[in-house]
Amino acid sequence: MVRLLVILPLLCSVFLHVSCAENPSIVSFHQGFDPLYGELNIIPYEGNNSVQISMDERTSSGFHSKLMYVHGYFETSLKLPGNYTAGVVVAFYTSNEHKYPFYRDEIDFEFLGHIHGQRWLLQTNFYGNGSTNRGREERYDLWFDPSEDFHRYGILWTGNRITYYVDDVPIRHVKRVDAMGGDFPAKEMSLFGTIWNGSNWATAGGQYKLDLNYGPFIAKYSSFVLKGCPFYLSPKAARCSDNLGLVGLENSDDITGEETGRMHAFRRKLMTYSYCYDRKRYVVPLPECVFNSEEFEHLKKFDPWTFGSGK
Ligand SMILES: *[C@@H]1O[C@H](CO)[C@@H](O)[C@H](O)[C@H]1NC(C)=O
Ligand SMILES: *[C@@H]1O[C@H](CO)[C@@H](O)[C@H](O)[C@H]1NC(C)=O
Ligand SMILES: *[C@@H]1O[C@H](CO)[C@@H](O)[C@H](O)[C@H]1NC(C)=O
Ligand SMILES: *[C@@H]1O[C@H](CO)[C@@H](O)[C@H](O)[C@H]1NC(C)=O
Repeated sequence: MVRLLVILPLLCSVFLHVSCAENPSIVSFHQGFDPLYGELNIIPYEGNNSVQISMDERTSSGFHSKLMYVHGYFETSLKLPGNYTAGVVVAFYTSNEHKYPFYRDEIDFEFLGHIHGQRWLLQTNFYGNGSTNRGREERYDLWFDPSEDFHRYGILWTGNRITYYVDDVPIRHVKRVDAMGGDFPAKEMSLFGTIWNGSNWATAGGQYKLDLNYGPFIAKYSSFVLKGCPFYLSPKAARCSDNLGLVGLENSDDITGEETGRMHAFRRKLMTYSYCYDRKRYVVPLPECVFNSEEFEHLKKFDPWTFGSGK
């Protein structure tokens, strides 16, 4: 990530048609985003730097970036609603479903609701070119209560990698392999923040439902980082991703050894689901999956039914 942040400003000056922000800086809600739905429940605050979105008996709500981007680093600080939030999904993700309804790409952070006293579950997932019948979900417990304070959630997306960060911990790192074909997100995407009713699946597989008596459910988003290559409808801008490749962004596809250590420490302790080890679902693991015996042992202990022999 450090390397990407160094490289992007260089790219912006070398390739003038790629209009990047000058600095890896924080943009206000007002600069970067527009309301998407449920405008009644979208309230910018701190001079438009931050925004709270909520769900109550009137509506759920969400916002989206003004621009679409090809590759980049996208981050927000997020504070979740507390108390009983079963069925309440809070998401921060990139998608282009509005533009490519049948061939969409998507990279997600989704919080799946929680019941007071229990932890929130965080889910990550991605789709490429409409690969929605091949979910690549992972779920994790967190080492903090995300409703108590703001924490940073970041998505780093290049032509060859997707890395998900929570604060400074890379919790998931996907390297593109050729066998993935179009399943690796490649087209321009917008960034979204949404809160909605996921009662039928989110919390304990839909066992616990949304209860509006505990509302309004308020999610606060702040400190947005939008460091990507904006996509414009011109032939020049369409070459953005090629240029990123030419200048060497594709060489920064690995996280550092130190980051790898923190990622493995996180995953072998707090991961609760990974499609890579779910042989009931994928008899042959999807091509980007890298087997890690410590992760596998941890998952088997956590959920023997899904990851063990079913006993
Ligand atoms: C926040 O954004 C709104 C909508 O564009 C604008 O009317 C308002 O002046 C902004 N407030 C501040 C403090 O910048
Ligand atoms: C995406 O899917 C469409 C329709 O199947 C196909 O024409 C296109 O080549 C695919 N793109 C990639 C990158 O796989
Ligand atoms: C939430 O979603 C569930 C399942 O789709 C639905 O049964 C329920 O009526 C919804 N609740 C509200 C308040 O919209
Ligand atoms: C949780 O919500 C219930 C119902 O609204 C309320 O009575 C209780 O005080 C809340 N607890 C906390 C810790 O906010």
